[in-house]
Amino acid sequence: MNQEMTGRQGVGEHRFFARWYDTVTGPLERRWLGRVREELLADLGGQILEIGAGTGANLAHYRRADHVVAAEPDPAMRERLRRRLGEARVPVELSPVRVEDLPFGDDTFDVVVSTLVLCSVADLPAALAEVRRVLRPAGRLVVIEHVRDDGVRGRAQDALAPLWRRLAAGCHLNRDIATAIRTAGLEAGPIDTFRPRPTLPILHRWIRGTATPPEM
Ligand SMILES: C[S@@+](CC[C@H](N)C(=O)[O-])C[C@H]1O[C@@H](n2cnc3c(N)ncnc32)[C@H](O)[C@@H]1O
Repeated sequence: MNQEMTGRQGVGEHRFFARWYDTVTGPLERRWLGRVREELLADLGGQILEIGAGTGANLAHYRRADHVVAAEPDPAMRERLRRRLGEARVPVELSPVRVEDLPFGDDTFDVVVSTLVLCSVADLPAALAEVRRVLRPAGRLVVIEHVRDDGVRGRAQDALAPLWRRLAAGCHLNRDIATAIRTAGLEAGPIDTFRPRPTLPILHRWIRGTATPPEM
């Protein structure tokens, strides 16, 4: 049932990050992140593209999808993703592509899923332009992302961002992802801001929800 495609790739390989990712995020998954994934993903149907699928934390949450392309460009993460394919209840195809250059035609997917990925992509506007291009007019982008906080916490994130980027495989601590989504021409509908506990140090503010192409 599950297959693997080849294609353009390239975000480097982060073996240390991949080795520790599930251990570090485990407490969040158990306390709230797993539940949020379930709420947003379980009812999604049709053709789904998951960008930056990582170690496969979302795989078990798809229940109604016809087909999922799980795209993960980092070979170390992708190897872990491959090992978890057995958890999927729907057909899943692995792909090595980066979101900035997707090898799919316009209007291909009903849903694009991005969980903890838009913080890490090298070129956020290019990534969102590609997401919008491959989404069908009635499609939607589903996100769970950490974002820049307000006030002193936001300024602390700005100061720590260069170090964090090196430690966390290119993750930007301080992106305003909701604004970037709107700037890309997708309409929030709805995207909630929330402050989960526990969270990782200095990742206090998160968003979850959906965004859609504007109605023609
Ligand atoms: C923090 S991990 C999140 C993994 C998974 N989505 C989750 O919810 O646990 C970020 C992932 O984004 C991937 N990534 C980074 N840059 C990317 C890009 N340009 N295109 C697609 N994926 C990218 C990384 O390789 C990594 O697996």
